[in-house]
Amino acid sequence: MGNNFEQLYIKLRKAEQRILSDEQVMKLPDIENQHPHYSEWLKRKDTLQRFDNYLANRSFKTALEIGCGNGWFSNWLAKRVSKVTGQDINQTEVEQARRVFTTENLQFSTEENVLELSHNLMPDLVVFNASLQYFNPEEKLIENLLELLSDSSEIHILDTPV
Ligand SMILES: C[S@@+](CC[C@H](N)C(=O)[O-])C[C@H]1O[C@@H](n2cnc3c(N)ncnc32)[C@H](O)[C@@H]1O
Repeated sequence: MGNNFEQLYIKLRKAEQRILSDEQVMKLPDIENQHPHYSEWLKRKDTLQRFDNYLANRSFKTALEIGCGNGWFSNWLAKRVSKVTGQDINQTEVEQARRVFTTENLQFSTEENVLELSHNLMPDLVVFNASLQYFNPEEKLIENLLELLSDSSEIHILDTPV
């Protein structure tokens, strides 16, 4: 399932010019102003600023980003949270994430079963950044995560059209 999804997904991402070079990924959310998705990244920077303000008064120890893609946001989180795991079923982008972001407190996983991964990690912060729309039904996943995580854990959904 993962492999078939990945082939179609990467094909589409390439067609939409969303597969970026390592140099571009390293600089995200900043991107050249001639890039076709420049205005989208401006909006994403705005979200990031608001989330940064939110995190400033809190202290999370372990975070899990579900659907991390090329890993730029997991890397951003790793500057604010002690230990971060970025998870995705998309091997191509996770390979890029591992190549580009090598901070010690950041790891990437291609574990397909996010519930099992969450159970093993027991993160106190879970983030879906532009990824929840790929899960069907997304409500069930959130319910299952809420049952699994501790009462003080938080799930955040950013930049997601649901
Ligand atoms: C639009 S990208 C977002 C990437 C990154 N979070 C960001 O903010 O730029 C959505 C990601 O969700 C991933 N995804 C889709 N279905 C998934 C699943 N079942 N488990 C994990 N990741 C999934 C895709 O492979 C893709 O990398």
